[in-house]
Amino acid sequence: MAEDYEIVAPEPGALIESLRAFGYTPQTAIADLIDNSITAGARNIWVYFTWNGDGSYITVRDDGKGMTSEELVAAMRAGSQNPRTRRGRKDLGRFGLGLKTASFSQCRILTVASKVSGSSITTRRWDLDYVGQTSEWRLLHETASGSEQRISGLKDQEKGTLVLWECMDRIVSDDRVDDQKAERRFLSHISNVEQHLGMVFHRFIDDLQGITIHINGHQISSWDPFLSSESTTQPLQEERLHLHDDVVRVRPYVLPHHSRLSAAAHDRGGGPRGWNTQQGFYIYRNRRLLLAGDWLGLGMRKEEHYKLARIAIDLPNSMDHEWDIDVRKSRARPPGILQEDLRRIARITRERAVDVYRHRGKVLSRKTSGNDIFIWNRELKSGRVKFRINREHPLIADLLQFSVQEDRKRVETLLRLIEETIPVPLITLENSEHPDKEFVPFEGSPPSEMLGILKEVYISLRRSGIPSDEAKERLIALEPFQEFNELVMALRDDEMMGEDL
Ligand SMILES: Nc1ncnc2c1ncn2[C@@H]1O[C@H](COP(=O)(O)OP(=O)(O)OP(=O)(O)O)[C@@H](O)[C@H]1O
Ligand SMILES: [Mg+2]
Repeated sequence: MAEDYEIVAPEPGALIESLRAFGYTPQTAIADLIDNSITAGARNIWVYFTWNGDGSYITVRDDGKGMTSEELVAAMRAGSQNPRTRRGRKDLGRFGLGLKTASFSQCRILTVASKVSGSSITTRRWDLDYVGQTSEWRLLHETASGSEQRISGLKDQEKGTLVLWECMDRIVSDDRVDDQKAERRFLSHISNVEQHLGMVFHRFIDDLQGITIHINGHQISSWDPFLSSESTTQPLQEERLHLHDDVVRVRPYVLPHHSRLSAAAHDRGGGPRGWNTQQGFYIYRNRRLLLAGDWLGLGMRKEEHYKLARIAIDLPNSMDHEWDIDVRKSRARPPGILQEDLRRIARITRERAVDVYRHRGKVLSRKTSGNDIFIWNRELKSGRVKFRINREHPLIADLLQFSVQEDRKRVETLLRLIEETIPVPLITLENSEHPDKEFVPFEGSPPSEMLGILKEVYISLRRSGIPSDEAKERLIALEPFQEFNELVMALRDDEMMGEDL
């Protein structure tokens, strides 16, 4: 009886080429290899970029447990494990594909050498051209001829694994060795990789006995999206969301206003993609970062004033299906049942973040104790916005009240002129193009200058008959002295002797 099926095996040459199209970048591809190293218990990982024109190569070596030759052969198979298989609690893998897809996305020859304790090194190699020519999944033994030296880093180790990428047509094409521009382009990947790995694996690096990752001999430092070591970062209440028998942990953070950070800390806090882009959820799977700053399609947009909101979500590896994790570990989508809770948490965090962000923006809108707080007032006239200098501000009131008629007119003219000519379009443009470059009051000026101004305003208040205590209270409420509580409290009338109080 004729069978009612045909066997239609994939055509090796065509399929292996298609495995190249998963959409990796050099940094996401290398991160995928490091997942494997960490799962194998590595403490140290060494990434090396070697420039040699179109013969350039990259190695990733670890001191993990290594693979026997049977394990290595199994590991080289595309689909080495069924994605439905339950994984160890700390396993960063899922699909049995990463090693192959990540490597083929960047190179045409993938060699893996590995060694378990007490054994010698075993080596296997995929050569895409050879698979294409033979139309068979022929896994080669040993390195390509002439490449033996490239895996020699493993020799001195008791155990570990080394992945070698050669024929990197996606990164170097047919560049010549002496093409300096091409060399710079090649080496420029190093800093992208460094930033990416420092972010994706930051928790592993920061662990008490953390892993170390080196790139071309240089140790990579971690990038913590939540600036946890800054005392002014505000962690909000952690929530535990239940899904089947597992728990998703959600921890929101509101990051400090930039005036509360040193310039270096603020620069670094922006991360690989900058403050605005890095807002949103950060999804960790088994402590490995999958997604860095995304509002997860919950109907919220990335906007400047929400940039201080960053929220950590922690997933175990048993929810991969529900969260729609992809092979690259660069995507995750919240299951419908959790979306409402996540939206609520995002909304609360964004509101808190806006408050901190507007800490100075409030200058123009806050309606608190009295009308004398801010130098600038925002006025709405027939639907149009106008900025006016507050005549009730103590210093200005003082100036106007105690000047002679002639001077008063000149001061008034000057104020009007300033108001009429503020370059609003220029400020708006600057602020939207360089939102983080905004000047903080008295930034970079000597403290004596600020103290001088503080004293002047104090004297003005006292001169208008306000008692010392009340004057100080008002000063503290006054922009920009809110930050200098102690200086205000230390002001003493007798220090201003000679001033007519
Ligand atoms: N550096 C390494 N050290 C030890 N074993 C490794 C290493 N790299 C890969 N392996 C073995 O090879 C297997 C296949 O790796 P691969 O990355 O292709 O798939 P995976 O990690 O199982 O799943 P995923 O596709 O999600 O990455 C791993 O499961 C592991 O057993
Ligand atoms: Mg993997």
